[in-house]
Amino acid sequence: MKSIDAITQVLKSGFVTQKDIQAITKLSQATVSRCLKKLDDSLLVLPFSSPNKYALPAEDKGYSVQFKEVDEQGNESKLGTVYRLANDQYFVDLAEGASKLYLGEKGNGLFDGLPFFLDDLRPQGFLGNLFVKQLADMSDRYPKKLSSWQAKHIFQYLEEYGDDLPGNLKFGVGTCHLPRQPVYPVPYDKYDFMCEQIKAGVSQESSLGGEQQKFTVFSSELNADVLVKYTSNKNDAVTRRWKDILVTEYHALKILAAFKIPAAEIDLIDRDNRFYLVVKRFDRIGFFGRSSMFSLLSIDMEYVGLGENWQNIANEMLKLNLLSKSDNNSISILWAFSQLIANTDTHLGNISLGIKGDSFNLLPIYDMCTMAIAPKPNSLDPIDFTLPDLDTLNINQDNKSLVLEMAFLFWQRIEKDTRISGEFRNYLKTHKPYKKLEFQS
Ligand SMILES: Nc1ncnc2c1ncn2[C@@H]1O[C@H](COP(=O)(O)OP(=O)(O)OP(=O)(O)O)[C@@H](O)[C@H]1O
Ligand SMILES: [Mg+2]
Repeated sequence: MKSIDAITQVLKSGFVTQKDIQAITKLSQATVSRCLKKLDDSLLVLPFSSPNKYALPAEDKGYSVQFKEVDEQGNESKLGTVYRLANDQYFVDLAEGASKLYLGEKGNGLFDGLPFFLDDLRPQGFLGNLFVKQLADMSDRYPKKLSSWQAKHIFQYLEEYGDDLPGNLKFGVGTCHLPRQPVYPVPYDKYDFMCEQIKAGVSQESSLGGEQQKFTVFSSELNADVLVKYTSNKNDAVTRRWKDILVTEYHALKILAAFKIPAAEIDLIDRDNRFYLVVKRFDRIGFFGRSSMFSLLSIDMEYVGLGENWQNIANEMLKLNLLSKSDNNSISILWAFSQLIANTDTHLGNISLGIKGDSFNLLPIYDMCTMAIAPKPNSLDPIDFTLPDLDTLNINQDNKSLVLEMAFLFWQRIEKDTRISGEFRNYLKTHKPYKKLEFQS
């Protein structure tokens, strides 16, 4: 084997020093130096390593992708390139001035799996499944099922569809200077048509996650990008239950915003026999501006590793200087509030943070609703839930009274709302879950 081929092979196994290469290949220092110079253009250099460590990207085409960010005015700036190495590690070659958070916990751009900031961007959930089916119909380069997607499919997807992803990252060389596609504002009276299209299998080019049925449009009424969650138009008990849940999401977000806890702007529309929860997207600003968004799930996987509980992860992030005291406090309030409104779906994908400089900042909350009453996949159980005792929530005295006040208001508003089902109203009247809150205040 030629010296350069032997060295190339070693470099493709991951980052190594010149001495490592000499030891593995048994070549002289002079030969290794000469070959490294020859490979210079394609060599990846691990930052902050002494002595220097080098690697080469995996050979297969499509194992590197450039990425950039879009600011609130719509200006783009290059952030760097993500490479997949042959040993299944990933390396982020970061542009000068970009947030160090993109380098990951090790601080050098080397990741043992897919970098955390790519994690939310692959198609997922309701919209992702729809889109993946359509992608597979158009091209045999994509598998039919999301569960069969491998790293190469994600890279391919980012390269080809990396222009309008959740958050403010853009991928691929081709999308570099393209202006945004024409914006077609959609009025509320077209929403039913959107739902019917989705029912007929027409997908959206969107990888916004979440399992509930939804679509994204630019709203004529709000003059903004929105996410629209919708119910079926049937008059059955399951649909009524989902309508109840959307009513709870509406009040939860309104109350949080009124108490100055960041929450997505929201509207609830009752038309076409459906309920539409229209949520203004906070990762889109005007026609062109964007703002960063990463789920706590992806951040936790990289920086903390607890795997559950917003509050505990936020406490760790505070200790690591990754979060401000005030955002930590807001997360504590959101966590406690969610327990008191019977939100049983507080997984780590239901809270997101942005990147500001070298720290994360809390984004408006979304998907805050009484999921304890959600229908199960194959059954509809009668409504039945118990709110936790406050002292199990580990919350300080100042926050305690605030959270109690908000939760109490929440249950009052739900009970008064004429849009909830008879079943939910009767349950609230008979069981009075909020009585417990009065007692604890
Ligand atoms: N206002 C918003 N602006 C930008 N992105 C949002 C907004 N609301 C939600 N998202 C993104 O869309 C995803 C889906 O939204 P949401 O969680 O409300 O849907 P869902 O289907 O009810 O989720 P789940 O599967 O948790 O029930 C979120 O995980 C988040 O990434
Ligand atoms: Mg969700």
